[in-house]
Amino acid sequence: MAVGAAKVLENVAGRPLVKSRQRVQDHAEVLTPAWLVDEMLALVKNESERIDSRFLEPACGTGNFLVRVLSSKLTTVMARYGKSDYERRHHALLALMSVYGIDIQADNALECRTNLLSLFGAYLGARAGDEWMRAAALVVGVNVIVGDALAMTTVGTSPDTHGLPIVFAEWGYLGRGKYQRRDFHFDKIAGRGTVRPGEAHHEVFQPVTSYPTMTVAQIAAMEDVT
Ligand SMILES: C[S@@+](CC[C@H](N)C(=O)[O-])C[C@H]1O[C@@H](n2cnc3c(N)ncnc32)[C@H](O)[C@@H]1O
Repeated sequence: MAVGAAKVLENVAGRPLVKSRQRVQDHAEVLTPAWLVDEMLALVKNESERIDSRFLEPACGTGNFLVRVLSSKLTTVMARYGKSDYERRHHALLALMSVYGIDIQADNALECRTNLLSLFGAYLGARAGDEWMRAAALVVGVNVIVGDALAMTTVGTSPDTHGLPIVFAEWGYLGRGKYQRRDFHFDKIAGRGTVRPGEAHHEVFQPVTSYPTMTVAQIAAMEDVT
């Protein structure tokens, strides 16, 4: 683990667990201490260490779980791809692509995105505004959603952003610097458990949008226009 990344983890862990009594009353907002996050993640150690295993935190707060999950994945990336800067960077982005969050409070979702980005940036030694960070900003903007996880709809300040079905991106790394992205409705994904074997063409497996394969530069360019 790079010194910068270790510092980010320490700072995230050191934040207060309660922001205000009002927020506890309104949103049950009591953040989980680092030691408890670590104990809980130890129960799913193999999955949290796998680079492409997908984690969704439906009430992600400021990312106490997701940051730790990303950290575990990045440790695996270093062990497996540390000798090749090209592979290390591309798999680190894949690790980031596999963590997802929802929070009903916009400030928490934004803080979660920032915490994930800070860890990713420290790990890569990337600077704000460079191509990798712009691609990473697009990814966390897509993956960490301001929304109501129970209603499975977005929370926003205008009809354009509020009450829409939550959409998640399924990212994949195809190798040679190319990523794929297919978007699915959250409520459909959540219904997959009811699909029987042999129903591979069921609508829950149909993406709402499929994107052409993309390089890091092309993902970064998407961030420039959002
Ligand atoms: C108990 S805190 C936990 C935060 C984080 N998981 C952690 O362990 O540090 C609960 C979080 O859930 C969010 N929340 C409450 N109701 C929600 C809902 N219906 N959908 C999404 N997030 C919600 C709150 O805003 C708050 O950030």
